[in-house]
Amino acid sequence: MYDEVKRQQQRRIKEKLDQRREHQVSDVMRQIMEFNKTPSDLKVELDRFIIGQDPGKKIMATAISFHYRRLGAAFKRSAEENREDLDSILRQTRTPKANILIVGPTGCGKTYTSEIASELVGVPFMAVDLAKFSEVGYVGQNVADILVDLLIAAGGNSQVAQLGIVYLDEIDKIAHEPGVYRDVSGTGVQKGLLQLVEGVENTIDLGSERISLSTKHVLFIAGGVYENLDAIVRKRLDRQGHNGDWREHLLTEDLVKFGMIRQLMGRFPVRVVYSLLSTQDLKDILVKSEGSPLKAYVDDFKAWDIDLAFTDGALTAIAHQSEQEGTGARGLVSILHKVLHEEMFRLPGTYKGELVIDENFVRARCR
Ligand SMILES: Nc1ncnc2c1ncn2[C@@H]1O[C@H](COP(=O)(O)OP(=O)(O)OP(=O)(O)O)[C@@H](O)[C@H]1O
Ligand SMILES: [Mg+2]
Repeated sequence: MYDEVKRQQQRRIKEKLDQRREHQVSDVMRQIMEFNKTPSDLKVELDRFIIGQDPGKKIMATAISFHYRRLGAAFKRSAEENREDLDSILRQTRTPKANILIVGPTGCGKTYTSEIASELVGVPFMAVDLAKFSEVGYVGQNVADILVDLLIAAGGNSQVAQLGIVYLDEIDKIAHEPGVYRDVSGTGVQKGLLQLVEGVENTIDLGSERISLSTKHVLFIAGGVYENLDAIVRKRLDRQGHNGDWREHLLTEDLVKFGMIRQLMGRFPVRVVYSLLSTQDLKDILVKSEGSPLKAYVDDFKAWDIDLAFTDGALTAIAHQSEQEGTGARGLVSILHKVLHEEMFRLPGTYKGELVIDENFVRARCR
């Protein structure tokens, strides 16, 4: 008797979960089928969060907008022929993928742009730190781990996962040293990624369930600092008698010289180079970005009935200070914390009203 009740209960739970998964698929599918943000629409939306990086954001917005529009159009076409069978639709869709490689200094918005873009499109986002891979040195297992993480990011739904964005962080850390051919770990990890990026069909064994997951439609964005890559490009440009901004002339052969394998770089045809953020950019992040850490602090103080405000001089001083940290926009968070932590401890419960931070206040706290 009890067993029967338990079985019924389990069945009900399973049905509910299956229904939820189905809803999720249809939500994401609908989002993609109805995806109608032009590259310039998407760029305008990215601009609300990401400050500066204009040429790069343009390329990103274009690649992402085309990817999802192309996928949406293919879904619509196949859905008319195939009805609701998503798996066969996915199998039929021959979307040529334009994975993206972003090069740029630390804390300049590489991961952030990718994450915000996936939110704007409405697809799952998952970031993988490749620096860990070179330490472990064993490839196969880790590539499978990426798939499992993507599945989790998609709420356990393999069909939703297949439409997501995977961000491969610190891809420059898996470069092999130029000229060192016996360096197995570098080329090994890179080779391990080839298939994943190209599109593999993999089965994830969860014990009770085996879930098959393909990366054919997953958009991969790889980011790395690539220290001194500029020197490699400039040297080549010099040799060829060209001049101009190196950022506009990055080629696969420069990345190969850095230590990347050609086949892997060939799978990232869209190249974006982000710049070091200027003092003005950093100030704009504080004032204008929807993800501004300063706005977050203002809200936090507001919750204690304290109206936090900054003078223009204070903002400039914070931007200057964080520039000196050399960690890009991440420096803003640590400087703001340095400036405010004393008041965060002291004021709640003892003070209500305005708190204006000026330049001298910032200077005194950052000494
Ligand atoms: N251009 C930008 N506009 C607005 N905010 C930014 C920008 N760049 C960075 N940020 C802020 O700084 C944080 C760190 O940036 P992000 O994670 O994108 O760095 P990254 O370029 O990926 O660096 P790393 O190479 O170290 O991974 C972001 O979460 C965001 O809050
Ligand atoms: Mg990053």
